Amino acid sequence: MTDVEEIESLPGVGSATAEKLIDSGYTDLMSIAVESPRNLNHEAGVGESTATKIIRHAKQEIEMDGFENGTDVKERRKKIGRLTTNCDALDDLLGGGVETGSITEIFGEFGSGKTQIAHQLLVNAVLPRDDGGLGGEAMLIDTENSFRPKRITEIAEHLEKDADEVLEKIQVGTAFNSHHQMLLAEKALETGKEKDINLLVVDSLTAHFRAEYVGRGSLAERQQALNKHLHKLLNFAIRNNSAIVVTNQVTANPDQFFGDPTKPIGGHILGHTATFRVYLRKSKGNKVIARLVDSPSMPNGEAVFKIEEHGITEE
Ligand code: GTP
Ligand code: MG
Repeated sequence: MTDVEEIESLPGVGSATAEKLIDSGYTDLMSIAVESPRNLNHEAGVGESTATKIIRHAKQEIEMDGFENGTDVKERRKKIGRLTTNCDALDDLLGGGVETGSITEIFGEFGSGKTQIAHQLLVNAVLPRDDGGLGGEAMLIDTENSFRPKRITEIAEHLEKDADEVLEKIQVGTAFNSHHQMLLAEKALETGKEKDINLLVVDSLTAHFRAEYVGRGSLAERQQALNKHLHKLLNFAIRNNSAIVVTNQVTANPDQFFGDPTKPIGGHILGHTATFRVYLRKSKGNKVIARLVDSPSMPNGEAVFKIEEHGITEE
């Protein structure tokens, strides 16, 4: 069955409802299963009680609706990959590197190193597994035009890799506005079906949303759009067992900006998957202090790394 046929075959979904769902971007069972009835109602115009049923059936269909025993969980956890940051202290902080199947948020002030980590991870991800990479390919949704092939080359060459081969394996989409950004996430989902994409970076997750949804009245709307986007990313993470890394700029003065930086960006929506939040702050010279906050599985702690000519390194 194709994804669309699977949606059409859900009990309670007629062809009109299937069309509404698909037109609203719910193009496979997973995207429905991880949705809330309220969002499904809002996004696709499906009545809330119908939405509840559809979500329940979608969950059953992909066996997301019940308990599994500890052995099953253990087996599932074995498939989780770890992507090195190139700094042991930072890897340790994350429990062995950036986890696949999860969303990792890197947040901090301007110039704190978010984009530099993104570049390093893009290179590392496409390296073979024996080198701490994930094999396969990587994708970047660049919203601030901060991707620099030259930086990729510097980092790759320092690791004694063929820079052109590395560049070849990194797909970059430049998002002109939040709508385009969300569209690129959908495109990434399509690409993920054909290619072995093990890392998807969104740098920055929030910049366009902040710039476009201004004023008190638009806060709820912005959160809703962002939640929808995060859902797509989560869907990508689970489907492809891929690492998702998003960056988020915050200032020292939290209430001036988007939400409270000490609260997870996706709120409860990201609650059911392991989510890592790393707060960066500049230290002396080229040093950066990374702090892990709100991790469900790791103790909160700190690590220091350096930004060198050839990328991220140990302190
Ligand atoms: P915003 O996107 O403005 O929020 O900042 P950011 O957190 O993405 O900062 P970014 O990673 O771009 O830069 C962090 C620091 O890395 C900068 O202050 C520079 O000192 C350093 N840096 C940036 N680009 C390079 C580079 O090409 N080479 C070297 N050696 N350092 C760089
Ligand atoms: Mg940046």
